[in-house]
Amino acid sequence: MIALSRQPGEAPSPFDAEQQRRFEEGFQKAVAKYPPERRRSALLAVLHLAQDELGWLPEPAMIYVAHLLDVPPVRVREVATFYTMYRLHPVGRHHIGVCNSVSCWAMGSENILRHCEERLGIRPGEATKDGQFSLEEVACLASCGTAPAVLVNNFTYVENVTPDSMDALIVRLRTEPGQKMAPGPHPRHLEDKHAIEKQSDPQATGTVGQAAATAIPTDRR
Ligand code: FES
Repeated sequence: MIALSRQPGEAPSPFDAEQQRRFEEGFQKAVAKYPPERRRSALLAVLHLAQDELGWLPEPAMIYVAHLLDVPPVRVREVATFYTMYRLHPVGRHHIGVCNSVSCWAMGSENILRHCEERLGIRPGEATKDGQFSLEEVACLASCGTAPAVLVNNFTYVENVTPDSMDALIVRLRTEPGQKMAPGPHPRHLEDKHAIEKQSDPQATGTVGQAAATAIPTDRR
């Protein structure tokens, strides 16, 4: 664990050559959005870039990001541990997050979680031995109107989940062995970095235009 007193300093890269090249490219775009003295504002985006390359955020990656942005590593850990979209442990190929906040809880998310535990043979925070699935409880996914909600690999919403639809989802994911962990949001590079972004532009937090999966029959939507 990163020591609370640890100061910014030299840190080795956690990436191989190809990962480093991609990371560097994204990093330059991310920091270009801010004035030089505010480059640390790119922290969230840069953490996503590191996670995209490694699949999760080991402490050497947090220390490396801290070094690049000249912030204390412990600050980076504070951010990485605050947001559930950052993964602090290696996860399965399909990472299933079951919402446990109030609307989903009222609509039976505890049953969904228990169902996942039984079907996958793992508890929240664990991954299956074959590396296919991992499970976690997550806070409100902002899909309260279609509770209970589940998020797969951070970017695929599954709404109105029932035990049966969860089973169907697990079967489908199992038979999609080629599917990789969804990439995190990529920082946008505006021609004019001080331009106001339009609401219609793709946002940095999801797959705009990709319909959420739902268990509601089509004739009732
Ligand atoms: S309470 Fe589950 S999405 Fe909001």
